[in-house]
Amino acid sequence: MNKKTVRDIDVDGKRVLVRVDFNVPLKDGRAADDTRIRAALPTINFLRLHGARIILISHLGRPKGVEKNLCMDPVGDRLSELLGAPVMKLDECTGPDVESSLDRLAPGQVALLENCRFTPLEKENDPEWARQLSSLADIYVNDAFGAAHRAHATTTGVAAYLPAVAGLLVESELEQLSRLTRNPEHPFVTILGGVKVSDKIGVIDRFLDFADAILIGGAMCFGFLKARGIDVGASRIEEESVDVAAAALEKAKASRCKILLPDDLVVASHFGADARTQVVPVDKIPAGWMGLDIGPATIAAFVSEVEAARTIFWNGPMGAFEMEPFAEGTRAIAEAVAAAAALTVTGGGDTVAAVNAFGVAGRIDHVSTGGGAAMEFLEGKELPGIVVLADK
Ligand code: 3PG
Repeated sequence: MNKKTVRDIDVDGKRVLVRVDFNVPLKDGRAADDTRIRAALPTINFLRLHGARIILISHLGRPKGVEKNLCMDPVGDRLSELLGAPVMKLDECTGPDVESSLDRLAPGQVALLENCRFTPLEKENDPEWARQLSSLADIYVNDAFGAAHRAHATTTGVAAYLPAVAGLLVESELEQLSRLTRNPEHPFVTILGGVKVSDKIGVIDRFLDFADAILIGGAMCFGFLKARGIDVGASRIEEESVDVAAAALEKAKASRCKILLPDDLVVASHFGADARTQVVPVDKIPAGWMGLDIGPATIAAFVSEVEAARTIFWNGPMGAFEMEPFAEGTRAIAEAVAAAAALTVTGGGDTVAAVNAFGVAGRIDHVSTGGGAAMEFLEGKELPGIVVLADK
């Protein structure tokens, strides 16, 4: 990476404002998945060890103003458990109370500011708000890989006022994701799922140039099936995705990379774990029924591609895996990816939840904390939160 990191600067005794991505799912007032909190620990511990006074800031969800259920307190509690040390949770991001509390922060101690999206100034990348935030610190560190595709006050704005370097998570994410695009071993298999074709089209477009196979499951397959003239019944479909899918299928004709769609599906009478289900070929979805998982023939075809692969990128579940009747496709792919003799990389919130739910996260080479950020990086786009950091 050509950007300076926390290793390249002296942080001893300094106040370091660290943008982290603690946008984690909450349940019953607790962090339901702490993957992103754990992922920030190397940077936080590095800074503690080197005597920095650490001021963390993150967004949580997409609040419209102050929303009590999106306060950072549960995140602070979990972070404190993981660090085995108290975390000074503050109820605002700027102002005299924050300043006087931070005056008491000793070297090695950690403070956590409130959800930065409680003010619209964050997303507006307001320069004055960014300046106020920067006045809390001597150095800015961006370790929020998952939010690096956002040009907001805490991801880019503050970098105009402080020396700005990357955290260790950002460094590791860029290194690991670059392995996919820099001379990957072949066969290179990409597995895409989830709902929106529009979120994935940039990656499909780029990967058609150097992957060997793109396997498409999840609700996004319906745009592709419809583009092939198949009646998808009551399946969830993003209408505008059909044209996008048709263009990708057209591009694939001239590419050495093949796009594989499901041959069969688990269909359901309605969206619910109690629905009646059956397995049908993709062109025999009964009227009023919806596809909620890939079927056994598709699982076999996809798994055989995964078994032969030397490089695998997976983003998006194969079905509504949170309901047991529709979990098999995602479970089978998760297990096959974990067992593959390949470089394996996964990303995206739902995919991280799936690899955790099926207990295979530890057997995947890199589980990216970035959803949209990882996709944009792999599309070849520059990430604003990285661009603003100091070059080496
Ligand atoms: C994510 O969950 O992908 C990141 O935290 C970014 O969140 P956002 O899409 O709300 O900006």
